[in-house]
Formats: sequence, C-alpha cells, structure tokens
Amino acid sequence: MRSFNHSSEIIELLKTKEYEYLGLVPTMGSLHKGHVKLIEKCSLKCDQTIVSIFVNPTQFDNKIDFANYPQSVQKDIETIRKINPNAIIYTPSESDLYTSPAKAEIFDLDGIDKIIEGKFRKGHFQGVATVVKILFEKFSPDYAFFGEKDYQQILVIEKLIKKYNLGVKIKCILTVREENGLAMSSRNILLDKETRYDAKIIYESLCIAKKMIKKNDFDKIKNFISELFLANKKFSLEYFCIAENTSLKEIASFNPTIKIRAFICARFQGIRLIDNIALN
Ligand code: PAJ
Repeated sequence: MRSFNHSSEIIELLKTKEYEYLGLVPTMGSLHKGHVKLIEKCSLKCDQTIVSIFVNPTQFDNKIDFANYPQSVQKDIETIRKINPNAIIYTPSESDLYTSPAKAEIFDLDGIDKIIEGKFRKGHFQGVATVVKILFEKFSPDYAFFGEKDYQQILVIEKLIKKYNLGVKIKCILTVREENGLAMSSRNILLDKETRYDAKIIYESLCIAKKMIKKNDFDKIKNFISELFLANKKFSLEYFCIAENTSLKEIASFNPTIKIRAFICARFQGIRLIDNIALN
C-alpha cells in the first residue's frame, strides 16, 4: 500500500470510490497502540478511512521538541496496512498543506486554547486548529477521530468546527495506556527503559486525585501531588489542575453535579508528558 504526498491525488482517488462515510484520523506518526485504536474505530464506523501523518511545525512552540519528534513513516504505513488495507494514507510535505513559510492562522476559540496546556505552549492549539482545518477542508470527512489523551485538543477542535461551520462530526476514544498506566505517546520512545517505567508517577497522581476528590479540599490534593513530584528525582511537575469538563475552568471544590477532570503535565529533561482523567 502506497502513501500519497499530494492531497490532489487523494481527492481524485476518492472520486473513483464508492463509500457512505469518510473518516479521517489525523496523526503526527510514530504510531502506537493509541493511534491503532483510533484507526480501528474509524475503520469500523466509516467505509473509507484516511490517515494523515504529518509533524505539524505550526503547533510546536519549541524548535528542539519539533526537531526531536520521532518519525517512522515506513513502519507506520505497515501498521496501517495491517489494520485496514483499504485505508488511504496521506504523508504530505509541508508545501502540500501550507504556503511558505508555514504559519498558524489566528482563530478566536473563546479562550479554550489559552488555558491549561495553552498557557504553557503558546500558540500550540492555534497550530493544531490550523492544520486540522486544512485537512477538514481538503477532504471534507464525515467523521474525524481523536483521543482523550489530548482532551483539551478535542475541545479545541469541537470549538473550531462550531465557530467555522466545518460540518465534521468528532468521535473520541479513551486513552490507551502502557502496562504501568503511562499514557501511550509517540514521545515515550524518547525515554530510556527505566525512566519510561518511572513515568508511571504521572498516571498514579491522577488516580490519587480521583481517590481523594470527594473528601478533600482541592488545594490539599494539589499540594499532595506537588510534594509527590518534589520527592521524585526524575520528573518535575509543570502543572496539575482540576477543571470543569467543557469550559476547562478551574474548580476549587467538589460538587457532584459538576463534571470535572484532572490535567497533568510532567517533564523529564526536555520531554513533556501530558495526561488527564475524568474525576467523577
Ligand atoms: P498525535 O499526537 O500523533 O495524535 C494523533 C491522535 O492520537 C490524537 O487524536 C491523539 O489524541 C490520539 N492519541 C495519542 N495518544 C493516545 C493514547 N494514548 N490513547 C488514545 N489516543 C491517543 O494529536 C496530534 O497528533 C496532533 O496534534 C494532530 C491532531 C495530528 C494535529 O497535528
């Protein structure tokens, strides 16, 4: 199965195919079991699947992070072929998506892009929204598939769709985890074996927060988690916060009628790992 570098070729190919639902799975490649789940779900729901693989420069606020982002396109193509031999794989170069130099569009996303992760990665979600909008406009998928591992990203895309009338329906999957609870991420392969094991502290912290949530003041929970990281020699805590499910506004105390999630980001050397879980 070959991949296509030009969206125009895919658009021509789609004209020759008969399908009811077109599904898109946008990725940056270096595929893992989380991506596999997404492609499986898309292939079940839609009779034509497109998987895009593109390390999008406009969503990186850090040049080193961009340069170090793992890539394994040939292996990824094999992985996709095993899941769905009929899937169309889009592996564009920058010039097929952007005019030079690649730049993020400026969207008004009602501030959902500026909080939590957006506070620490300036412009990140504008870059994500830019590339996803380009992909939606090129292929007009009926459905697009995203993972809860990047929960805020889902809200950003939903906001983008609503505000810009993009007419794509979003489907989500739960976070796929490694055996020790660490959320699967393309960046995990940048960690040595021992550090990858020790990274379980990230998910463990979220689980502790979930256990404490009903009976403890949220400040106490945050302090507990900060101390846990202070005692940890490897990972430093960039943020931990508890926020309402759809607005992502920070919440200070437990109220059973409000759906909340915990969000975390921890660093090992230059590598940032994020995670989140539902708390109620
Ligand atoms: P990437 O990190 O490659 O992720 C592609 C999709 O896989 C996203 O929807 C992400 O949430 C999902 N995903 C990643 N890890 C997951 C896990 N452990 N469990 C479940 N789903 C997981 O997210 C991006 O790329 C980019 O921002 C992109 C949307 C492609 C725009 O460039």
